[in-house]
Amino acid sequence: MELLRQGAEAKLFRARFEGKKALLKKRVPKAYRNKELDDRLRSTRTTGEATLLRKARSLGVNTPQVYSVDKAGKEILMEFVEGKRLKDVLTGKNLGLCKQVGEAIALMHENGLIHGDLTTSNVMVKGKELFFIDFGLGKQSKKLEDKAVDLLVFKKTFEATHVELMPRGWEMILEGYLGKGGKKEVLVQMKKVEERARYH
Ligand SMILES: Nc1ncnc2c1ncn2[C@@H]1O[C@H](COP(=O)(O)OP(=O)(O)OP(=O)(O)O)[C@@H](O)[C@H]1O
Ligand SMILES: [Mg+2]
Repeated sequence: MELLRQGAEAKLFRARFEGKKALLKKRVPKAYRNKELDDRLRSTRTTGEATLLRKARSLGVNTPQVYSVDKAGKEILMEFVEGKRLKDVLTGKNLGLCKQVGEAIALMHENGLIHGDLTTSNVMVKGKELFFIDFGLGKQSKKLEDKAVDLLVFKKTFEATHVELMPRGWEMILEGYLGKGGKKEVLVQMKKVEERARYH
């Protein structure tokens, strides 16, 4: 199998499934972690990610289709998304994509799905559609705090990655979020968490 990419916690291989292009995400051991803990973390993140990829998809948020999950092998075989990372295609001329991102996050949050690692590297663009990937740190939760932290983590990486698109890019994300049922109170909580982080 061809190694496509070495991520922070997984190796991504080009693969095939029933004649279609596929992607194998295999979580590899981390030597610095205790063996048992490492094993457990890689297994739960693998099954957790597969569950959330499917749940998001069922809500109407595009994610790669999950073909199979191997808990012991810490592997997910999924649809290969023929697209580019949002990080690499986002410019001042296509800020509508930011609105789309915000809309998708609102849909997830309103249905109790926290992505856990929102960045423009974890969103892929295929034609006019967005695909969300990398749910390994996600969870199911309806808590205001969890939604606020999910958005704040995104804001921090977005500001750092897309300096030239600030503040408009982030505003468009929030516009999409609020327009699709995302709650104002989440944004209020986000501000509180941000202040807390700053002063403590
Ligand atoms: N289903 C897919 N189809 C096509 N490319 C994919 C798919 N899943 C992941 N990729 C590519 O592999 C990269 C890493 O995937 P992912 O984010 O799931 O792993 P990761 O270990 O968390 O990596 P990183 O540390 O880069 O976030 C993505 O940014 C994307 O370019
Ligand atoms: Mg990633």
